[in-house]
Amino acid sequence: MATGARTTPLRLGSVAEDFTAESNVGRINFHEYLGDSWAVFFSHPADFTPVCTTELGAFAKLEPEFTKRGVKLLGLSADTTERHAGWIKDIAEVTGGNVKFPIIADPDRKVANLYDMIDYQDPTNIDHNSLPLTIRSVFFIDPAKKIRTILSYPASTGRNAAEVLRIVDSLQLGDKYKVATPIDWIPGQDVIVANSVKQPEADVLFPSHRVIKPYLRYTSLPTA
Ligand code: BEZ
Repeated sequence: MATGARTTPLRLGSVAEDFTAESNVGRINFHEYLGDSWAVFFSHPADFTPVCTTELGAFAKLEPEFTKRGVKLLGLSADTTERHAGWIKDIAEVTGGNVKFPIIADPDRKVANLYDMIDYQDPTNIDHNSLPLTIRSVFFIDPAKKIRTILSYPASTGRNAAEVLRIVDSLQLGDKYKVATPIDWIPGQDVIVANSVKQPEADVLFPSHRVIKPYLRYTSLPTA
């Protein structure tokens, strides 16, 4: 049983609401689980479904990359802990990915409603009780528990795990260096000096930056 009611809007910069819920690894308090880590919190429509199976396998295989970046993974599926346990075995068999992170059991959609992960679009995305299932949401949460990015995909479109990791890299780089990342950026490529950085500061922070336009300044960064 999840607890918690939304007290702040679901916007970038809002605090990610706390809740307590059951999962495949026991009862979880969200904020306690986060501690002072980053988190990627992602939802699934239901257990034993094809696209979700491929997604969870991919996230399980990529978990060491998230851990390296100080990011905890937390899944949610609108199903029970008993079904989660059976499904996790299937995921390992089918994809080779061993899910070790928690998957919230949310058959009554309490947490899904708290995070507005409900499908208003696809009338086929329903469970055996005709309740709308959850969509594929992804919330990126920083160590201050602020929501930093929200993605929403329909049930029919599997996510891109590499893109989720790329967004983490972009957010963490932006926090560290006062930069933004351009279209199709991948780690290691040049970045954009943040608009908030005035020219005299840019000259000090990024001595070798290139000014394409006063509002478009590229720089390389030291490699980690
Ligand atoms: C899927 O994961 O394949 C799926 C789940 C619910 C509705 C449609 C597709």
